[in-house]
Amino acid sequence: METQAPANGSVPGSNPQSPATRRRFLIAAGKSVAALVSVGAIVAAVRFVYPPSRRWLRWPRIVAPFQAVAAVESLPLGEWKLCALGSDNDEPMKKRAVWVRREGDKPDAFRVLSAACTHAGCPVAWRSDRKLFVCPCHGGTYDAQGNQKSGPPKRPLDAVDYQIKDGQLLVRSDDV
Ligand code: FES
Repeated sequence: METQAPANGSVPGSNPQSPATRRRFLIAAGKSVAALVSVGAIVAAVRFVYPPSRRWLRWPRIVAPFQAVAAVESLPLGEWKLCALGSDNDEPMKKRAVWVRREGDKPDAFRVLSAACTHAGCPVAWRSDRKLFVCPCHGGTYDAQGNQKSGPPKRPLDAVDYQIKDGQLLVRSDDV
């Protein structure tokens, strides 16, 4: 004997209020939550291994605070200069800084690099005699463009976004 499906499309014999249907719904919801938690855990783990200096891994920000670090005229042409962010009250070890090189007078003629070593975040120093950035912690070095050259660092120093406003160089502080 042939049975006919009900007009509302439900499976014959299944009741949307039945415990079996509810159980299936709860299992599917539980799997969705577990999948979301897993994705969050994976993203957090990747961010831990590759610190937040990788821009594409950063959480999106609605406000990008730019901080003034130096008057453009105070920056020597063609030389790296260390510029600190934050207030004078910050502990020296917590002070963040950027290396800035002014190549000319055009707004795009600056190179701004985070001073934090990409290995473990120690502040790198520019050695003009060796034309290298040198990290004091584990001896990592970077060339004059900020590309890693030797030692533990696996990637270049992070480039930092900047703006020129009213004669001041402003850098995006969450890049540092
Ligand atoms: S923190 Fe710079 S080489 Fe390790």
